[in-house]
Amino acid sequence: MRKISKIGVLTSGGDAPGMNPCIRAVVRTALYNGLEVVGIRQGYKGLIDNDMMEMKHRSVSNILNLGGTILKTARCLPFKTDEGMEIAYQNAKARGIDGLVVIGGDGTFTGALRFSRKYPDIAVMGVPGTIDNDLCGSTYTLGFDTATNTVIEAIDKIRDTADAHDRLFFIEVMGRDSGAIALRAGISCGAEAILLPERTTAIDDLIKNLKDGHMNKKSSSIVIVAEGDKNGVWDVAKAVQKEVKNYDIKVTILGHLQRGGAPSSFDRILGSRLGFAAVNALIAGESQKMVGLQANQILMTDLEQALNHHEFKLEPDLLQMMDILSI
Ligand code: F6P
Repeated sequence: MRKISKIGVLTSGGDAPGMNPCIRAVVRTALYNGLEVVGIRQGYKGLIDNDMMEMKHRSVSNILNLGGTILKTARCLPFKTDEGMEIAYQNAKARGIDGLVVIGGDGTFTGALRFSRKYPDIAVMGVPGTIDNDLCGSTYTLGFDTATNTVIEAIDKIRDTADAHDRLFFIEVMGRDSGAIALRAGISCGAEAILLPERTTAIDDLIKNLKDGHMNKKSSSIVIVAEGDKNGVWDVAKAVQKEVKNYDIKVTILGHLQRGGAPSSFDRILGSRLGFAAVNALIAGESQKMVGLQANQILMTDLEQALNHHEFKLEPDLLQMMDILSI
């Protein structure tokens, strides 16, 4: 069995609340087991630029409550090339890193999988960290809960003003390929419609529903549009405005505020559990896997399987509910 003596930890791709609790758990679990830990700054970019630092207990003090990531993050194009990967490998070897914990989403895992196939002597363990909740093998990803709560708080506020003015709001939420935030926030806020990348919404049906709602004395309406929806928030709003003349229409794009903020209790616990499990999995000789939450247990999934978006499904009962509860 391979023996790990030094773990490198990095956060990559979009930051997500809960990454800091996870880094803290990785560092302290590794130190508890007599391993050394290296923090890699700005994700894979730090591996290529040799931007790394030894981490001790006090390196991760008082970070449980912080959003973002103390290690910083980046989307690193050079790591996609063979040359970039080779430099990253040589730098990691020179530091004595023999195990890597990579915290991020699908882009991060795609890089991790390629890297560990090319250089199998460095073990790699993935931790699902993305607000998009779009990885197989973990019911929830780090940051999704906090981001959804942030979105709900914002939409509740918009509902107040929408109601005061009898307005119809189109609200774009994050999720390039995933409607997870849109669906949960939509159900939680009683949105009149939720547009998701996972299914096509007929604009005619949407217009009819909004008109019916108006006739049924709805004083405001909220349509949540996930970033990755095929129609796009502006085109939908324009198409509806043409047909629903008596409604004053506004568009709000929530944007990056969805990624910030102190992690929720759920994300602090999840980050701690996943960081702890990732280090223990590396010590146990595992590689090319992701630790994830399944039925409240932390289990492992092959990285390749974790990336299998096609198998990822939004909860069918939530999808069914969304058409029924907001009449
Ligand atoms: O992957 C998380 C995410 O927040 C997506 O929902 C969004 O499309 C993307 O990141 C935005 O990325 P950037 O911060 O690079 O614009």
